[in-house]
Amino acid sequence: MPANKRLLMLPGDGIGPEVMHEVRRVIDWMDRRRAVTFDIAEDAVGGAAIDAIGMPIAEKTVEAAKAADAVLFGSVGGPKWDGLGFDMRPEIAILTLRRELGLFANLRPAVVLDPLVDASTLKPEVVRGLDLMIVRESTGGLYFGEPRGIEELPDGQQRGVNTEVYATGEIERVARVAFELARKRQGRVCSVEKANVMESGLLWRRVVTALHEREFADIGLTHMYADNCAMQLVRNPRQFDVIVTTNLFGDLLSDLASMLTGSLGMLPSATLGAPDTSGRRHALYEPIHGSAPDIAGKGVANPLGQLLSFAMLLRFSFDMAEDADLIERACTNVLASGLRTADVMAPNCAKVGTQVMGEAVLRELDKLAA
Ligand code: IPM
Ligand code: MG
Repeated sequence: MPANKRLLMLPGDGIGPEVMHEVRRVIDWMDRRRAVTFDIAEDAVGGAAIDAIGMPIAEKTVEAAKAADAVLFGSVGGPKWDGLGFDMRPEIAILTLRRELGLFANLRPAVVLDPLVDASTLKPEVVRGLDLMIVRESTGGLYFGEPRGIEELPDGQQRGVNTEVYATGEIERVARVAFELARKRQGRVCSVEKANVMESGLLWRRVVTALHEREFADIGLTHMYADNCAMQLVRNPRQFDVIVTTNLFGDLLSDLASMLTGSLGMLPSATLGAPDTSGRRHALYEPIHGSAPDIAGKGVANPLGQLLSFAMLLRFSFDMAEDADLIERACTNVLASGLRTADVMAPNCAKVGTQVMGEAVLRELDKLAA
């Protein structure tokens, strides 16, 4: 008997717990129908943890995340905690997990599902069939570089400092993830930085080029400046297969790319660490959307981003591609049947809330698995 799959669920704040609840129901369904047993633990993070224990994430939660086979994260933050000091912000929870688990490769797909092609603000002919993957470096660069801080100047002014810094190994390992992904996709990587103005960007370009020559000559590699990439993503997004970029540029470009799909509430993401000798790697999965405090508690949030994050978890961490396919197909079919949460509502569709959407996915799973 294989050991149970250890899953840590961190619903967080706002709509996080509401959409995570729908994942629970899919897990119960799998328990019954697919005979897979998960060993599930749950903990508070973000604002919920600040309220409970006075800090955004407990040391024991970090330890539980290290011990788990995979972490499913909801979303954190909200106006209630906006006034807190920088170290006490709910966002520290996710940044701490990325750092402590060494989750350096943040995979953010932007896929336009056929039933939702009209949800994009761009013309259907520009986005139809879009399937791109942004691989964002997520433990280095400007987010973590030293020196950092706000310092006092002799003349009474203050100065805020952050540092963009990348070492060869950090660039190589994230580029390797991108090249390996491209091999299973359309075989193209676009590496994005600002080598025209930043030394860290120049090094980035050299290291990616050298790795490509050494190990990935079968993959098509192009380079692009980040500002041009933002423009190209809006002009002709289908030119891209895999984009690999730095932490800050990846943060910006992935928000942009997600909106090409017109359905932020639908997109999952994965953040992976380095594989150990047995091939096991730390991994955290979360929807791209935030905690959406404006609609929290109303039961109207779209649960599909969280469900698809769970599908990604099954695929990457538990090697359960068949079950991942099943969940993804169920989500697409429900959308095709005309059910929509408010965020992706369209003419001639039926507007439903979080739970009804979740139930529709369960019914579809029943049908697909019959
Ligand atoms: C993201 C978010 C985070 C980031 C915040 C919440 C710290 O915007 O995951 O993209 O900037 O990385
Ligand atoms: Mg972001």
